Amino acid sequence: MPAPPPDARSFRSELIDVRPTGDDGVVLRVRPTIELPALRAARFFMLRRDDELSPAIPRPFSVYRVREDGSIEFLIKVMGRGTRALAESVPGTTLVTVGPLGNGWPVLGGDAEPLVMIGGGIGSVPFYMAIEQALAGMEGAPPVAAPDITFVYGAAHAGLLYDIEVFERLGVRVIAATDDGSRGFHGNVVQALEAEWSNGRLPERVRVLTCGPDPMMEAVARVARDRDLPCWLSLETYMGCGVGICNGCAVRTAPGGPFGDWPIAKCCVDGPVFPAAALALD
Ligand SMILES: Cc1cc2nc3c(=O)[nH]c(=O)nc-3n(C[C@H](O)[C@H](O)[C@H](O)COP(=O)(O)OP(=O)(O)OC[C@H]3O[C@@H](n4cnc5c(N)ncnc54)[C@H](O)[C@@H]3O)c2cc1C
Ligand code: FES
Repeated sequence: MPAPPPDARSFRSELIDVRPTGDDGVVLRVRPTIELPALRAARFFMLRRDDELSPAIPRPFSVYRVREDGSIEFLIKVMGRGTRALAESVPGTTLVTVGPLGNGWPVLGGDAEPLVMIGGGIGSVPFYMAIEQALAGMEGAPPVAAPDITFVYGAAHAGLLYDIEVFERLGVRVIAATDDGSRGFHGNVVQALEAEWSNGRLPERVRVLTCGPDPMMEAVARVARDRDLPCWLSLETYMGCGVGICNGCAVRTAPGGPFGDWPIAKCCVDGPVFPAAALALD
């Protein structure tokens, strides 16, 4: 029976900075009131304001960055009541915080194929630390060289490429792709990826990581399957509890995959990162 990670806690955080980004995003910088363990990229926290402006059920958000002073940043796109309440908060606001939750990306070492990370819109969030950790060498694995990391960042238009300059400062290849051509490649991330391959700018064998809207991730997973490439997806499924109790985050598993006969997995405790082979993708 999957359970929440043993290092997860429920605690209060203090909001110390709010910075707008893109058309409808904010970066919230929070100071936790407890010491947190080292955080693997793509783990997440449940967040809500400690007042009536937030819905009773906190919302899940990937950790964006951990700063040197121990503060944590979340990059949030305003969608509805929960995200709006967080985005309209001012420094000094107390946030109810539960985490760290979920599994995070696998160890990204320099001893395997180059990495291609594909983020769609707000799905870019779990890649900042993934790049940082891969460049630094994580959990005993050798570092990945900067030229061996490509980040393909797609969105409908330039205003939804949140914090793209911050990603570019990491020193890896960042390829922007917009549906309307307002920045970078004119087209979607899969088309941008195929263009990289056909122009010989990307090795044939790569590890693929993706996060974004489901149709985008499914398209990326199909490309990876057709090319027989290892691929992981970080899902942003609706969540209730975030800790494995409510079954609100069920995802269909692939028959004969790593979940065996279990037809569903819980995104919050079995994920949010899954190997593509584990999921029944449309
Ligand atoms: C593991 C995980 C990590 C996430 N990380 C981030 C992050 O780093 N930054 C970020 O901005 N968001 C992230 N999300 C998505 C975020 O949790 C939702 O946008 C948020 O819960 C919406 O809450 P709300 O109250 O504002 O919207 P609601 O009022 O609940 O919904 C408003 C509208 O948004 C739609 N919606 C709500 N949740 C989702 C969803 N998960 N997928 C698609 N549509 C949705 C609803 O259908 C509705 O139309 C993550 C989700 C998961 C599961
Ligand atoms: S969100 Fe409740 S079980 Fe996953």
